Amino acid sequence: MAQAIQGPRLVLLGTGGTIAGRAVQAADNVGYVAGQVGVAQLVTAVPALGSVSLDVEQIAQIDSKDMSLSVWQTLASRIAAHLERQEVQAVIVTHGTDTIEETAFVLQRLLRPAKPVVLTCAMRPSTALAPDGPQNLSDAVAVARHAEAAGVVVVCAGQVHGARDVAKSHTYRLDAFDSGDAGALGCVEEGQVRAFRPWDSAGECTPYDPKALARFVAVEDLPRVELITSHADTDGSLVRVLLALPHARPLRGIVVAGTGNGTVHHLLSDALRDAQAQGIRVRLTTRCAGGRVVPHPGLAFEDAKGLSPVKARLALALDLLLEA
Ligand code: SIN
Repeated sequence: MAQAIQGPRLVLLGTGGTIAGRAVQAADNVGYVAGQVGVAQLVTAVPALGSVSLDVEQIAQIDSKDMSLSVWQTLASRIAAHLERQEVQAVIVTHGTDTIEETAFVLQRLLRPAKPVVLTCAMRPSTALAPDGPQNLSDAVAVARHAEAAGVVVVCAGQVHGARDVAKSHTYRLDAFDSGDAGALGCVEEGQVRAFRPWDSAGECTPYDPKALARFVAVEDLPRVELITSHADTDGSLVRVLLALPHARPLRGIVVAGTGNGTVHHLLSDALRDAQAQGIRVRLTTRCAGGRVVPHPGLAFEDAKGLSPVKARLALALDLLLEA
């Protein structure tokens, strides 16, 4: 669907989430069903979109807890195709809050876009007494049109977060996202973007590689990488069970969320070393919500370079896929 008006063109892609959620009662902010309202309908609640040249596409209609490789494949290839169009200034994606940080990470890793790809979401369903979706979508438009915007970002509650650092940090607050020590990239104040620091993607070490994207889009499965947490009274048996399972998708990697500065229970550590001896890649991150594993010679396993456990899992799966 195209609404022809004027100015640089934006593309809006819908994937579902609470922003597209519907509840039976307007006062109900938790007992709703995510992914019910079409993205074309969400546009009607946002005055800022009335004067924008806009292409709208429904990519999926899901609760983002159920995000899958196939949705990522469609999303990544549609974004790449739209970004190649000269007249397109930016792509905006509506998404559930629960895995938006994973989608942002995957898209940034695969697309490294020079143009902005702005993911937005909501903590209250579209039927709420005071839904936050329309304001977030309006802020996303401001970010998409900002001259210095670049790369994949997440916009929520007036904050702009980078794909690498953003994490959902609260279960119900409208301001549910945090970028840890890195902090937000900027904010949106009454429709104006204020950048706190440069946020282009020029610093990324690997440039966009269309062959890597094509490979990602073509696979049936990502290399299997599991996420395990080190905790008191563990015995590492989960690792041994994973190694023994006759997987159709064999285990290729394990990310371990260690305690504190990346320490791992000695029994889990033994099991992980056995996994390594069988060719399984093991990467280390921390289960602490803040900070990162400070690299030092005594680290038990390969350092996940400050990524959160869920992003370290994706990074390893993508490395295994794209290095092969
Ligand atoms: C989802 O992630 O799709 C549901 C939760 C939300 O969007 O807040």
